[in-house]
Amino acid sequence: MLLTVHMSPVEMELLPLLCLCLLTVSGTTFADGNNLQIVKVTEGSDATLPCSTSTEEDVTSKRIEWRKDGQKEVFLYEGELLLSGQDQQFTGRVSLYTSELQHGNASIEIKNTELFDSGDYTCEIGKLQTNQSFPIQLLVVPLIIKVKEGNSVILPCSPRSKKDIKEDHFEWKKDGHMDVLLYEGTELGIRDDQFHGRVSLFKDQLKNGNASIKINNTKEADSGNYTCEFPDRNETLHILLVVGEYFDKTADCL
Ligand SMILES: *[C@@H]1O[C@H](CO)[C@@H](O)[C@H](O)[C@H]1NC(C)=O
Ligand SMILES: *[C@@H]1O[C@H](CO)[C@@H](O)[C@H](O)[C@H]1NC(C)=O
Ligand SMILES: *[C@@H]1O[C@H](CO)[C@@H](O)[C@H](O)[C@H]1NC(C)=O
Ligand SMILES: *[C@@H]1O[C@H](CO)[C@@H](O)[C@H](O)[C@H]1NC(C)=O
Ligand SMILES: *[C@@H]1O[C@H](CO)[C@@H](O)[C@H](O)[C@H]1NC(C)=O
Ligand SMILES: *[C@@H]1O[C@H](CO)[C@@H](O)[C@H](O)[C@H]1NC(C)=O
Repeated sequence: MLLTVHMSPVEMELLPLLCLCLLTVSGTTFADGNNLQIVKVTEGSDATLPCSTSTEEDVTSKRIEWRKDGQKEVFLYEGELLLSGQDQQFTGRVSLYTSELQHGNASIEIKNTELFDSGDYTCEIGKLQTNQSFPIQLLVVPLIIKVKEGNSVILPCSPRSKKDIKEDHFEWKKDGHMDVLLYEGTELGIRDDQFHGRVSLFKDQLKNGNASIKINNTKEADSGNYTCEFPDRNETLHILLVVGEYFDKTADCL
């Protein structure tokens, strides 16, 4: 799902505020006055980076080159896919919308975005004199969850392959150092005092690849950056939890 918003400079200044209000939107595309497109997605979701010729001419036989931060090769197409130079970061995660090429649309999809994918992308269609280059900024942000103090909250986490994780090793941490829950084939009792007796796994869900936790009786001090890490898979998910006094269902903006 994409939402396109055309913004004035004043609105750009309000962007951080607006973004907070759009948190429930899974993918958002903004265009600023200078042709820069900004795509914002929540970590773990798929991102479509837009790139289209204004003429809508068929680009099926053209060279299409996607780069990140000026150097990393994301995707190269020249009548066929040329993946040999592709940066490891993007292996198996990037695809063109093949049927769109004939309409001049060279947009790509990046699956399972990571925070690390954030950056400046360019899409180049064609070569030399005839080339067209399009700048796109991708912002991958952590999932943000707000909860009213005293209520319980579920922090969701699943590895990409939603396989059985009963025998796996994963760690929930807060702000990079506080142990919230450690699991290694069984739940280990090492937890920070702050969470003592308030955190639980959904044990019957582990077989479905669900490593989510529930925190009961939330306190304001629970607010912070949580990570759910699978060290053996090199996968980490980020969640920003905000516990406050006044949140209710309609209060979507901070
Ligand atoms: C290009 O294709 C993508 C994927 O189907 C679509 O989301 C996007 O709107 C298309 N862009 C244009 C300009 O048609
Ligand atoms: C073609 O792309 C190159 C590399 O990005 C750029 O330096 C050059 O100005 C472009 N040429 C035209 C005619 O836009
Ligand atoms: C994990 O299981 C809990 C409890 O059944 C459920 O609320 C949550 O949505 C599940 N999360 C995922 C990522 O499947
Ligand atoms: C959290 O509360 C639920 C009931 O609301 C209870 O089933 C669960 O055991 C509690 N978790 C902990 C760790 O106390
Ligand atoms: C979470 O991490 C971000 C970026 O590292 C930082 O700017 C922010 O202050 C942290 N939030 C909390 C509540 O600790
Ligand atoms: C783990 O992933 C990060 C970011 O995707 C990458 O920079 C790093 O090289 C990876 N480490 C291993 C051991 O694969």
